[in-house]
Amino acid sequence: MLVQARELFHHSLENKYMTGAFNVFNFDTLTAVVAAAEAERSPVIIQVSMGARKYAEDFRLFLECIHKVIETCAVPVLLQHDHCSTFEACREAIEWGIPAVMFDGSHLRFEENIERTRELAGYAHARGVWVEAELGSLPGFEDEVFSAENKYTEPDQAARFIEESGCDALAVAVGTSHGGVLSDESLPLAFDRLAEIHAALPDFPLVLHGGASLEKDLIDAVNAAGARVPYLRNASEADVSECRRYGVCKVNMDVDNFMAYTTAVLETLREKPDKYDPRVYLRPARDAFKNQVRHKMRNVLRSSDK
Ligand code: G3H
Ligand code: ZN
Repeated sequence: MLVQARELFHHSLENKYMTGAFNVFNFDTLTAVVAAAEAERSPVIIQVSMGARKYAEDFRLFLECIHKVIETCAVPVLLQHDHCSTFEACREAIEWGIPAVMFDGSHLRFEENIERTRELAGYAHARGVWVEAELGSLPGFEDEVFSAENKYTEPDQAARFIEESGCDALAVAVGTSHGGVLSDESLPLAFDRLAEIHAALPDFPLVLHGGASLEKDLIDAVNAAGARVPYLRNASEADVSECRRYGVCKVNMDVDNFMAYTTAVLETLREKPDKYDPRVYLRPARDAFKNQVRHKMRNVLRSSDK
């Protein structure tokens, strides 16, 4: 069933678990996430992105499909639009019936980010839509463009930002990266900074982007199956999991699911090189995606049985 963002995040904060936000782009990834949530009896956030909009032949039709799937789902599900860097992209998402949007003004100057977020929040709130904003910047890939900028969120600025912009949730930069950065080790997560932000904004829902960990064994597995993926690393699963003690109630995590999916495709084709029916390799790929989501819910987000 569809759940309201306010209700979901309040429950997360009270019960010290985090809800995973997983980007889906076709029927298989959508049903993999929903099946994982039902198997774990976990709330979940189905996310769609500008990338999914580009990938879909007919995005409106895909959204209708998502709504139908959510209706039949036994666990609480929120639907959210991930990173929109313009008012127009958010307006479209709202017009298409998406109940929560993320306006990402993190690349703007502080005052301008407040101004643009406030403008969007006014429009969204009048239509009952939840607004996530972002302050600080994460290194990594955003829509296939790499940025090395790593600017932690300032606690004082964060307090002023939510007060003046009217946003409902805030994505913070505390050491994670979008899609990882080249490193031999997991990236350190700045718990001091996260604790200061949480102290400045008690009870306010914080969001962690770049929550996939790219642990070495996942990269080893995809490479053993024939890929040549560089050792991009991110904050460890243990550190991401600790964030639930600091007001983080939503974690965006995708690339680990993508890696598990691709590993299954490559392994299946390697074992059965004579098979060309896509169902032969897409079924294990969908199962691998689902199992990766289940693992995150149970061992990282701690949202199972919630
Ligand atoms: O908004 C998307 C997420 O922040 C993706 O996180 O790069 O760790 O999968 P990820
Ligand atoms: Zn993100």
